[in-house]
Amino acid sequence: MDVQQFDLVVIGGGPGGYVAAIRGAQAGLKTACVEVEPRLGGTCLRVGCIPSKALLESSERYHEAKAGLAVHGVRVEGVGLDLGAMMARKDDVVQTLTQGIDGLFRKNGVTRLLGHGRLQGAGVVVVRDAAGVEITVKATHVILATGSRVASLKGVAVDGIHVGTSTEALAYDKVPEHLVVIGGGVIGLELGSVWARLGARVTVLEYLPRLLVGMEPELAREAERIFSRQGLAFRLGVKVMGTELLPDGRVSVKLEGEDPVVGDRVLLATGRMPNTEGLGLESVGIETGPRGVVPIDDHFRTSAPGVFAIGDLVRGPMLAHKAEEEGVACVDIIVRGHGHVDYNSIPGVVYTEPEIASVGRTSEELERDGVPYRKGSFAFRGNGRARALGHLEGKAIILAHAETDRVLGVHVIGPRAGDLIAEAAVAMAFGASSEDLAMASHAHPTLAEVLKEAALAVTGKHIHA
Ligand code: NAI
Repeated sequence: MDVQQFDLVVIGGGPGGYVAAIRGAQAGLKTACVEVEPRLGGTCLRVGCIPSKALLESSERYHEAKAGLAVHGVRVEGVGLDLGAMMARKDDVVQTLTQGIDGLFRKNGVTRLLGHGRLQGAGVVVVRDAAGVEITVKATHVILATGSRVASLKGVAVDGIHVGTSTEALAYDKVPEHLVVIGGGVIGLELGSVWARLGARVTVLEYLPRLLVGMEPELAREAERIFSRQGLAFRLGVKVMGTELLPDGRVSVKLEGEDPVVGDRVLLATGRMPNTEGLGLESVGIETGPRGVVPIDDHFRTSAPGVFAIGDLVRGPMLAHKAEEEGVACVDIIVRGHGHVDYNSIPGVVYTEPEIASVGRTSEELERDGVPYRKGSFAFRGNGRARALGHLEGKAIILAHAETDRVLGVHVIGPRAGDLIAEAAVAMAFGASSEDLAMASHAHPTLAEVLKEAALAVTGKHIHA
């Protein structure tokens, strides 16, 4: 049989891979995308960003109906939880979006290859389907976009039932009595919040003395206060030594020098690592670096000619939108010789209630690098719209260079922070000063005025505080 030849084969159909494939086809490359899962979209669409946001929304509605409507003069009685319906809605959201990518592939003429892809020497990709049948295709260019998987933790035996990852925590069939979360990062807070709202007791065990490592420390402290009030129990500075399944079906999580914590479900959320197993990197001489990261140059080129890597496989934050930007830039480089990702203005969002969002550098990083900066902050309780919404918690912080006034970082915890951060990301991409932000008219009454006031506060000119 003839071996099919493609200009571009993308291995992995997540946000990095599927976007790269579409861009490749749009640019006139004969493109195939290899994905082992029947549904396209990767971790993000199938078992990550999208289903977690569906559950965050539903659990927040439930929580509000139960405890948050009386203040608005809305009386509701007999509020109940139908977990099955909540999960079915989530599955429906995922199904619609993943099918949407199939549609985009058809529209743009991307060939879908269903199976596990691996490199087999220069320019050769082998695709093995679920039945073990292999096909071989040839590719002038290969983009590796296989994403990441949950990193294991010594002594913690993931069985997918009692001890699981975010995948299982997105589909528990009943509300846990006591959910023990290992890791006070993004997943721990998002999924811890979901199950706390649905009635579980939730304990978060974090190795470091703070939550959300890497984010602005003031926001992390504020998050700890807010989520503690919401009922999440935090144990900071504890070292998890392992888990043990007890005869009654519960799990004991052992801690160094302290009593174990016992729960009926354990969620392991201590980070993820690049997915390179079985990818055939050795066949083209690619060696992974520290923590399994695939080394690349500024043009996403690996050490093997014609082989590129993007997204969670490579350096930088493991974020869907970062992978998408890299997918587009990588194809642009292949086609036109140049492409660009502005790594200074990639926002990060934690979709809790309230949300937490950041773009640019933190005060910790600026101090470490000796960059002089001024800080302006403004609390949501001074904002008219926040008051009308009844969401008064949180604040926005703007860090600007002390001499040039250029915005270096924006950090927000508060209602719709994830949407508000877009303005800050655009401002930073354009090299705006805090004065630029402060002088731009913001509609009243909107939550976005918090950013304008924080920008005014950089020079002590805020009006409403
Ligand atoms: P993470 O890196 O956000 O947090 C892991 C936490 O576990 C850290 O605070 C770390 O100090 C702690 N930890 C590590 N070892 C520990 C131990 N032995 N005992 C107790 N704590 C320990 O990782 P997470 O939450 O698993 O998320 C994985 C990746 O997925 C992240 O890169 C994140 O960016 C991404 N993600 C992004 C989301 C978003 O953008 N909204 C949502 C979910 C995940």
